[in-house]
Amino acid sequence: MDQKQGTKANPIAFDHESPEHAENWPDEFREMREKCPVAWTDRHGGYWVATSYDAVVEMARDPETFSSAKSFDPETASGSGGITIPFTPIPRGLPVESDPPEWNLFRDFINRRFAPKAVEGFRQDARNFATALLNRVIETGEMDLVNDFTGPVPAMVTMKLMGLPLSEWREFADPLHTMVFTPKEAPEYAQVVAGVDWIFQRCAEEFMRYKGLPEEPNLLSYFAHQPVGGRLLELNDVLSLANNIIIGGVDTTTALTTHALEYLHHHSEAKARLMAEPSLVPFAREEFLRVFSPIHCLARNVTRSVEVAGQDVDEGDRVMLVWAAANRDPAVFESPDEVNFDRASNRHLAFGSGIHRCIGSSFARMMFEEMIAQMFARIPDWTIDYEGARRYRSIGTINGWETMPIRFPPGPKVPCDFEI
Ligand code: HEM
Repeated sequence: MDQKQGTKANPIAFDHESPEHAENWPDEFREMREKCPVAWTDRHGGYWVATSYDAVVEMARDPETFSSAKSFDPETASGSGGITIPFTPIPRGLPVESDPPEWNLFRDFINRRFAPKAVEGFRQDARNFATALLNRVIETGEMDLVNDFTGPVPAMVTMKLMGLPLSEWREFADPLHTMVFTPKEAPEYAQVVAGVDWIFQRCAEEFMRYKGLPEEPNLLSYFAHQPVGGRLLELNDVLSLANNIIIGGVDTTTALTTHALEYLHHHSEAKARLMAEPSLVPFAREEFLRVFSPIHCLARNVTRSVEVAGQDVDEGDRVMLVWAAANRDPAVFESPDEVNFDRASNRHLAFGSGIHRCIGSSFARMMFEEMIAQMFARIPDWTIDYEGARRYRSIGTINGWETMPIRFPPGPKVPCDFEI
């Protein structure tokens, strides 16, 4: 790449969805950040790629210029905007694909349900789910870390939060994970989409059912009973909220925890240190969030021509905010590619920045802690079968693992208040 690259006249060869990018992303971003921190690529109709910490923060904190709004027409399955490139032909997520003042309405409506105190109310549930899931496999000495553990725990906590029946956990957990990595052209894709459609159909059914009952302490019941901006929610708003909470919260936390356990498997000193000093776990967790950045990047729409990091971007352009690249910017993080539990300051962007900053961060942090604690207590020695393990082939949305078979010395089941 020479200095003149990265403009519309001289675009870079870059595609955040390509398998090559999934293989080489830290190197690719290092070069882009150094030479053209806001660079143009012609892929997917053309978009700017922001890789430096400062450029990403500047855009994330200016929602008037860098809008998240999405339009979608279900009749034609067409639309524009939103936070994904290429455009995803499904209704928008709420609040994430809205701008102020509409954003304020929906974010205020759900904020309290995601506050740290509310999240603590789910800790015992997360612990029970993790305990019960390990009880299913612990006597066998093997499991698929992703499909048997790090996938189901966040799925079950999210079901409880939403007010969906926990007996359906398998039907809920599997499609959410499979959808993220199954290529759209694969023969099984239609089946995966049907599984995800089923989840939203169940949300619609439960929402309608809760309308006829007194209010219960779960989100679908709350949506059925409480007004937003003076009116009760329409079903399409409920599905947009459910879409953002479910798709935003499940596979992301799975990816974070799987990356962490994979890292600890081949860094035995770091693992021994964490096991001996549990007070370090929150610091380790923030490092894993920074280094692995489960949500790789998200898009915005440019509403007025403006200059960012020395680059002119035009009204109507699309721009990609790369959290994963900003999180390894050496201008902000010393030795950025290293996991360092003793890092003095860690202002990572794994949960985003600005008004859309992740509302579920306390849930993610709590679920991570509970899963790691269960693993350390009950399966302290695991080995990964790398022959069978597979990373996502495309990491354009979520950077995670499809599957990760592990083996361990079998152990006993333990008593648990929750039966699967
Ligand atoms: C490790 C796990 C997670 C990661 C890395 C993550 C990452 C992010 C990021 C980067 C954003 C910013 C979006 C933007 O700027 O366009 C975001 C927003 C959001 N996240 Fe998370 N998230 C995680 C877990 C969760 C969980 C557990 C939930 C729900 C239970 C959740 C729900 C949401 C919602 C609703 C938004 C939209 C907030 C808004 O627009 O105001 N996330 N998340």
